[in-house]
Amino acid sequence: MGLLKGKVSVILLVFSLLVVLCASLSVSKEDQQLRLCKEHCRQQRQLDSRQRHQCETACEEYIREKERREQRDEPQSRHDPGKEYSKCRQRCQEEEGRRQEQVCESECEQRKIEQEREIRRRRDEDDEIVGRKRSEDEEEEEEESSGKGRPYVFDDQHWSTKLKAEEGRVRVLQKFTKRSKLFKGIENFRVMIFEANPQTFVVPNHWDADVVLFVAQGEGTVSLVYTDRRESFNIERGHVMVIPAGVTAYLINKGNNDKLILVKLINPVSNIGKFESFFGPGGDNPESYFNAFSSDILEAAFKTSEDSLKRIFSQQREGAIIRASEEQIKALTHEKGSHWPFGGKGSRDSAPFHLLRQNPRESNDFGSLFEVDSNDYRQLRDLNVAVSFANITQGSMHTPYYNSRATKIAVVLNGKGYFEMACPHVSKSGHKQQHHHHHSRRGEEASPIHYEKINSELREGTVFVVPPSHPFVTVASEDENLEVICFEINAENNHKFPLAGQRNILKNIEKEAKELAFATSAEEVDEVFRNQEEEFFFKGPRQQEHRRGYSII
Ligand code: CU
Repeated sequence: MGLLKGKVSVILLVFSLLVVLCASLSVSKEDQQLRLCKEHCRQQRQLDSRQRHQCETACEEYIREKERREQRDEPQSRHDPGKEYSKCRQRCQEEEGRRQEQVCESECEQRKIEQEREIRRRRDEDDEIVGRKRSEDEEEEEEESSGKGRPYVFDDQHWSTKLKAEEGRVRVLQKFTKRSKLFKGIENFRVMIFEANPQTFVVPNHWDADVVLFVAQGEGTVSLVYTDRRESFNIERGHVMVIPAGVTAYLINKGNNDKLILVKLINPVSNIGKFESFFGPGGDNPESYFNAFSSDILEAAFKTSEDSLKRIFSQQREGAIIRASEEQIKALTHEKGSHWPFGGKGSRDSAPFHLLRQNPRESNDFGSLFEVDSNDYRQLRDLNVAVSFANITQGSMHTPYYNSRATKIAVVLNGKGYFEMACPHVSKSGHKQQHHHHHSRRGEEASPIHYEKINSELREGTVFVVPPSHPFVTVASEDENLEVICFEINAENNHKFPLAGQRNILKNIEKEAKELAFATSAEEVDEVFRNQEEEFFFKGPRQQEHRRGYSII
């Protein structure tokens, strides 16, 4: 009897909770409602663990039913912004006098735009989830046309905020293959920028992805937790570090004034191009994954009372990035782990590598290039990634060159400039150049190869991708140095082949080959290819008046 009575009261409780929740959260998503509903179940002190479990189950059932009902009842017009819009305008005319008609109509317009955006967003999500293929033409038309560096250049609009807190934020670049199928080769990589305010702590969490990070600004301490030990490392601008998938990590920004900024290359281990973070320590925000378990499970697992469990897993509400006191920061700044330079077994496995303290691979008055690959830093081996940092002096450029095997993902850290690249895959008109003329079966009708100029201005936060074999060049603006951090994917056995300067590969071609290839005298060719006396970085193009803004011609 008591049990039955208990069950009835639990269901009544859930129902009353939901009435309150649904009234206050009618606009929010079901999953949020579900989370809150379960949270309220957990907070009801009068319930025992079984009742609490019933309460949570009731939440799930209710939300599921609600979803089903909504899908059934959703008026058709909600799927058709056009229809909704004309109805809305009609209402405006009918209710004329109550409000200005114009204002009313512009609100209709706004709603229509929002709905259309929402539909597009859902469609994109569906594409990702179900892998539904859009027609090839559509995609090429949309994404493989050049202009503004498309599809190789990513700007503000291609980032989304994954986490925004008072003390920091995390932005993720869209999935590469969402932009274009040309990025199939790097579809399992994502780029993220992490920023934390001075004197803050990032709550321990682990990811279903390997992460290569570069410290772009600030200084802090990273701690990694394993079953048998903890390793803590101080990091500062210039450090490269690998955090392996599944390793719980936390960090502090110990700086007093500077933000800590990390540029991350993410390589998911399970879902292609998708990853999540998992917070154990936490509470409501960040939500702890422990809160997903039934309380009787947790009680049994930890062999402790529900009350104490509830206390520890419900307190945190400050978010994933939290301000810490000076004493706390000080206590968390100590490095821990043996300091063996050669990374002995089990120790210093993840020690960071100071990229900017190495001898630059290339350096002169016009710029310097620092590089690290798996030969110098073995943590990069499994990922087959190299990291490089270029600082191009104002008004200078690097040689046009191409990578033999690596795809370069470049993130502009500081300064302004522009880049140009030759690409046979796209054209201004939006039609694919090659492989597009299947109808002309006879060889002699095949269209000649054309290389489209891909170009774009570069500024802080711009990301650009350079596929292998594609010759490209980067130029710093006249008034600021240009700093770029690059992740090179598929780095093993990659070679950079310079096309100008002292080590330019064309210099090694025989006289006869030059004459045949260029259909002119070898002397004339040499005059061009031997003139540049510098090696990798050069004086940039003179910024003459007519070239300013380098219009696309
Ligand atoms: Cu291309």
